[in-house]
Amino acid sequence: MSGPDSTGQGGAARRPIRSFVIRGGRLTDGQARALEQLWPSYGIDRPPAGERLDYPELFGRSAPVIAEIGFGNGEATWRTARDYPEQDFIGIEVHRPGVGHLLLALDEHRVGNVRVACEDAVEFMDEAIPPASLSGVRLFFPDPWPKKRHHKRRIVQPDFIACLARSMAPGAVLHLATDWAPYAEHMVEVIAENASFRNLAEDGPYSPRPAWRPETRYELRGKRLGHEVFDLLYEKID
Ligand SMILES: C[S@@+](CC[C@H](N)C(=O)[O-])C[C@H]1O[C@@H](n2cnc3c(N)ncnc32)[C@H](O)[C@@H]1O
Repeated sequence: MSGPDSTGQGGAARRPIRSFVIRGGRLTDGQARALEQLWPSYGIDRPPAGERLDYPELFGRSAPVIAEIGFGNGEATWRTARDYPEQDFIGIEVHRPGVGHLLLALDEHRVGNVRVACEDAVEFMDEAIPPASLSGVRLFFPDPWPKKRHHKRRIVQPDFIACLARSMAPGAVLHLATDWAPYAEHMVEVIAENASFRNLAEDGPYSPRPAWRPETRYELRGKRLGHEVFDLLYEKID
C-alpha cells in the first residue's frame, strides 16, 4: 500500500485517495473461471516491493505501452487494443467482475496486447510502473463523487496527477473523459497546476472526442441522462 506521503515530496503526511468503494457485484461463473484460468495469460501480479514491471517480459516484445485506469467492464479497452495491435495496454481496475469480463473478452476476441491488474491504481501506478515509461495514460469516466464532502475521493488530485506525470515519457498523452461538468472543471484546474502537462485543446480546455475512442458503458449511461461529455487531452512535457 502506498504509505502516507508516498510522493516522496516531503510535507505533512497525507492519506492516500480512496476513489472507490468495493461493490459486492457477484462474479458470474464465467468471470470466476476467467479469473482462475485466464489470469496466468493476461493478469499482472504486483512486482515484489522495490521492483517495477518489466514490459518486454510482460508482453514478450518492446512496444509503446498505454495504461487505462478504472476500465469498468473493459469493453473500450479490448476494442481499442484490437484496433491498435502495434501498441500494448495495461488495464487497472479494482472491481473483480469487471476484470473477469475483460479477461473473457480478451480470450474470446484473441486480443494479445492487453495485460490486466486487479489493483488500486493509486498504489499500482506509484509502485509498479517504471518512471517515464508510458506512452499514454487514459482515465475514462472516473467516479465523479458529486457531493462536496466526497470531493476528496476523486481520483484526480494533485498528488495523483504528479504520480501520472512521473510515469509518463515526454510526449506521452494523458487522456481523460467525464460526463460530469463540475468534475471536468475540477480536472482542468488540477492539471493546470502541474507544469508537466500542456493542454492539447485548440479552443478552450476541452478537445473533441478522438474518433478512435469507443464510447464506454458509463458514457452511454451519462448520455441517456442528457449529460454532455468532456474529453481532455494533455501532452507530457519535459
Ligand atoms: C464510473 S466507472 C467507469 C468505468 C469505465 N471507464 C467506463 O467508462 O465505463 C469508474 C471505474 O473506476 C474504478 N476505479 C475507481 N477507483 C479506482 C482505483 N483507485 N483503481 C482502479 N480502479 C478504480 C471503479 O471500480 C469503476 O469501475
